[in-house]
Amino acid sequence: MNLSETQVPIPPRVQVPKHPHWPAMSAGQKAALKDRIKRLMAEKNAVLVSHYYVDGDLQALAEETGGCVADSLEMARFGSQSEADTLLVCGVRFMGETAKILNPEKTVLMPDLNATCSLDEGCPADMFTAFCDQHPDRTVVVYANTSAEVKARADWTVTSGIALDIVRHLHARGEKILWAPDKHLGHYVQRMTDADMLMWDGACVVHEEFKGFALERLKRLHPKAAILVHPESPDEVVDQADVVGSTTALIQAVKNLPNEEFIVATDDGIFWKMHQLAPEKTLIAAPTAGEGATCESCAHCPWMAMNALQNLETALRDGTGEVFVEESVRVKAVRSIQRMLDFAASRK
Ligand code: 13P
Ligand code: SF4
Repeated sequence: MNLSETQVPIPPRVQVPKHPHWPAMSAGQKAALKDRIKRLMAEKNAVLVSHYYVDGDLQALAEETGGCVADSLEMARFGSQSEADTLLVCGVRFMGETAKILNPEKTVLMPDLNATCSLDEGCPADMFTAFCDQHPDRTVVVYANTSAEVKARADWTVTSGIALDIVRHLHARGEKILWAPDKHLGHYVQRMTDADMLMWDGACVVHEEFKGFALERLKRLHPKAAILVHPESPDEVVDQADVVGSTTALIQAVKNLPNEEFIVATDDGIFWKMHQLAPEKTLIAAPTAGEGATCESCAHCPWMAMNALQNLETALRDGTGEVFVEESVRVKAVRSIQRMLDFAASRK
């Protein structure tokens, strides 16, 4: 690798918003609001697709109404298979964009279009395109947590659930990879596959806060606990894990492993599903505080927290938060996403 090949652009600093405050509702108010949403969903033939990190009420509502609660790979698959006219996506913007890219004929609504992601924000399309142009010999693999424009420049899109398999496949074909934007996930994939990967310098502000030294201390207090880690976390946290994987893989581990206690290093929104599937197990949040910690997010994504029953009703009732992707971008972006979905289907 020559010197110019090792020069990676310095991404912009990402502004992390404060967690929004949603006014408390009585049980009666909440039930009435859910009823109104259900009526609107029936009127508009809408289906709700929620990520595991959003509020438990939005996960429950998706399940009660025949929608789905899933990781980002399954959210993409579910949207394409649904016969609904409107996809209501509770998550962050790349999830809504992916739904629109795959289903241009459907209306895609999100409670708040400002719900983005530090990985997406930290990888501007113009900078990324210039970086790719400097490395035409590399296969461009981007994490799903990116804009439609970045996906349009990629050969492959991957999620945490399929990244290892896809990179292993490309490495076996002798391809060199340009990876973006998450350096921690990229580093994990690189270590597991030994692939040649040139990496963008992005990170998830939520997972980056988990601290290896504090986790070691917590582990000593709970020696029988299994440690579950999302691969967007730093190496020193990943290295202590019993299970490293997508949100779905971590949830399945709580259900299937014999341990009674689990230390969980990912967004705490995931606890809703873990409790639902394994109510008898004890879940402990991995530490984010301590020496060197800024705790801007404290294990809860501020963008995921922008989704609530209240703004979901507004989006449905008034058609606000509609996701649009320019057709010239969409037709390019769909190729890298479809390649991932076809690859996933071929592995089933
Ligand atoms: P999953 O695809 O594992 O659900 O991850 C999405 C995400 O944004 C994690 O921070
Ligand atoms: Fe992005 Fe991290 Fe939030 Fe996931 S948890 S949406 S990677 S900022």
